[in-house]
Amino acid sequence: MTMKSLSQQCRMMLLVIFISILLAGFVPFSFASPVIRRFQFNVEWKKVTRLCHTKQLLTVNGQYPGPTIAVHEGDTVEIKVNNCINENTTIHWHGVKQLRTGWADGPAYITQCPIRSGESYTYKFSVIDQRGTLWWHAHYSWQRASVHGAFIIYPRMPYPFSTFPIEAGIPLIFGEWWNGDVEEVENEMLKSGGGPNNSDAYTINGLPGPLYPCSSRDTFISTVERGKTYLLRVINGALNDELFFAIANHTLTVVEIDAAYTKPFNTTAIMIAPGQTTTLLLNTDQIQIPDHSSGILFPMAITPYVTSSFPFNNSTSIGFLRYKSRKMNKLKRKTKFPSNQIPENLPDMKDTAFATAFSNKLRSLNSPLYPCNVPKTVHKRVFVTISLNLQNCPSRKSCKGLNGKRFFASMNNQSFIRPDSSILESHYRKIATNSYSTDFPEKPITVFDYTGVNPLTKNMNTEFGTKLLAVPYGTNLEIVFQGTNFLSVENHPIHVHGHNFFVVGRGFGNFNAGRDPAKYNLVDPPERNTVAVPRGGWAAIRIKADNPGVWFIHCHLEEHTSWGLAMGLIVRNGAGDSKSLLPPPDDLPLC
Ligand SMILES: *[C@@H]1O[C@H](CO)[C@@H](O)[C@H](O)[C@H]1NC(C)=O
Ligand SMILES: *[C@@H]1O[C@H](CO)[C@@H](O)[C@H](O)[C@H]1NC(C)=O
Ligand SMILES: *[C@@H]1O[C@H](CO)[C@@H](O)[C@H](O)[C@H]1NC(C)=O
Ligand SMILES: *[C@@H]1O[C@H](CO)[C@@H](O)[C@H](O)[C@H]1NC(C)=O
Ligand SMILES: *[C@@H]1O[C@H](CO)[C@@H](O)[C@H](O)[C@H]1NC(C)=O
Ligand SMILES: *[C@@H]1O[C@H](CO)[C@@H](O)[C@H](O)[C@H]1NC(C)=O
Ligand SMILES: *[C@@H]1O[C@H](CO)[C@@H](O)[C@H](O)[C@H]1NC(C)=O
Repeated sequence: MTMKSLSQQCRMMLLVIFISILLAGFVPFSFASPVIRRFQFNVEWKKVTRLCHTKQLLTVNGQYPGPTIAVHEGDTVEIKVNNCINENTTIHWHGVKQLRTGWADGPAYITQCPIRSGESYTYKFSVIDQRGTLWWHAHYSWQRASVHGAFIIYPRMPYPFSTFPIEAGIPLIFGEWWNGDVEEVENEMLKSGGGPNNSDAYTINGLPGPLYPCSSRDTFISTVERGKTYLLRVINGALNDELFFAIANHTLTVVEIDAAYTKPFNTTAIMIAPGQTTTLLLNTDQIQIPDHSSGILFPMAITPYVTSSFPFNNSTSIGFLRYKSRKMNKLKRKTKFPSNQIPENLPDMKDTAFATAFSNKLRSLNSPLYPCNVPKTVHKRVFVTISLNLQNCPSRKSCKGLNGKRFFASMNNQSFIRPDSSILESHYRKIATNSYSTDFPEKPITVFDYTGVNPLTKNMNTEFGTKLLAVPYGTNLEIVFQGTNFLSVENHPIHVHGHNFFVVGRGFGNFNAGRDPAKYNLVDPPERNTVAVPRGGWAAIRIKADNPGVWFIHCHLEEHTSWGLAMGLIVRNGAGDSKSLLPPPDDLPLC
């Protein structure tokens, strides 16, 4: 199909989308019975300008960031994705548990073949026992750089954390902008064997803000009223950077992470890793300067939390919280922003102490209505090292990694290769295949001082393959992720598809199987779908493997996933239909 006829087909669908948006109106807290909510996503190019660079940006429905999906807990969601570009695509509903509906999870070649150019696929799933802020993003190559948006689940019961009425929810989606074409950045990286080009700006809701060249027009401003309570729905959609976030003069109250309620706590700033979401209460409690013509502005900022020794962009993106004032005019196009804009409460880029203290404060709410169901006993323990690797280049050419070699990454020395067919489909149809195997090593084959001062320096090679871990339905699984100082110690946000897990322990240095489990939190550990494994340290998670299917587990730094920092988890069917994967939908894309 040509580009032209593709775009005509997709334009006709716009009307349908508009109507479905009108029909999707809802009110927070609904005691009404669950409904089916339908959405249409056109994956399409759109001309977008930032930092005085205009380019074709990959979007959903021409929006950047993409449209917000808002549903109620218990609803069934049907999202028809039309691929209007001349490339493959898929969409992942990040953090939605997909109970028995793995076919709708989205990662290409894990749970489905890609949606090809000109074709469509309708993702159908129910949102069960989750509430709060999640997000969605493309799960094909690096398309998620701009193909992403908020996925909000309104609760059936009143919020447990506030006796005040909530004025509004404000999605804050953090991202990265490249002046160049992102696909090209990825291709260059894979071809050269080196690291990717850093992005040219960090963005808040797609806007870099006034600290970047040619960018003041593209500044995020959220207008609020004094003396109210707002919910900030914070999403880190950046490809390769953990971020700190703060708002000048305001304290933030953490109430929910990854769509699971937490014990509320106050903080001056947060650390959020790619893939994670954090819902914050914001009280607009600062003094109002009366009759200020443009309303008083409080800067908010994001800056990277830097843990590796590789080059990074040390810049800061800012936006503003604007208190409405009586005499407020419409904000002029050329607003002069205050000069001293970086909030004093924004942590320093290398502030591991802040990041650690912040993570240590996260606890499940664990109330009678929302108990913390952390598995107290364990059926299977798996120990997984996370490493960067160096490999010789094909032929005798030199590569742009280190020492003339090229970068890879691995878990237990297995660098994951995505096959060219869907693993879930092969698994379901019991197709005999050598495209994957279920012998992922449950511990490292070589034991060494993972984070010691004398790491292995000679042989940085890895093995390549598509090895998955397979467990019976209902297994209480513990996985300890151990960072290593192969090449560089750094923070790795590990994301598990299809299940939430509990972060029962974290620490620096090497995990000690004799001592550390005694210190686990088995009462109210945080429940999440993405854990930031500390720099030069470890994190222990527990999963109740009660969702049959094939689930991707990977680092949410996109460069690391490209290099193979991933594995797969197969949860076998249990006894009876209610513990089995549903059959595939008729429109499932084929390879
Ligand atoms: C990556 O950066 C290099 C050096 O600045 C530049 O030449 C190249 O065009 C960039 N690639 C892309 C895809 O933007
Ligand atoms: C990093 O940030 C600066 C702004 O401080 C920007 O001008 C530059 O283009 C960015 N990108 C890179 C690759 O350094
Ligand atoms: C915000 O905090 C800064 C630093 O603590 C202070 O100088 C400033 O006056 C405060 N601004 C407002 C509007 O309260
Ligand atoms: C957070 O701070 C506010 C204002 O100081 C206070 O009213 C509230 O109780 C604090 N919340 C928590 C969970 O500490
Ligand atoms: C960022 O890096 C540049 C170049 O290394 C340096 O000049 C600048 O001071 C740094 N900025 C910050 C905020 O650290
Ligand atoms: C990883 O695998 C490669 C290739 O088999 C091997 O040479 C290397 O020693 C292994 N490294 C570790 C740490 O197991
Ligand atoms: C899209 O995916 C199909 C199925 O895996 C594959 O055969 C095809 O080569 C892909 N197309 C592109 C443009 O990558």
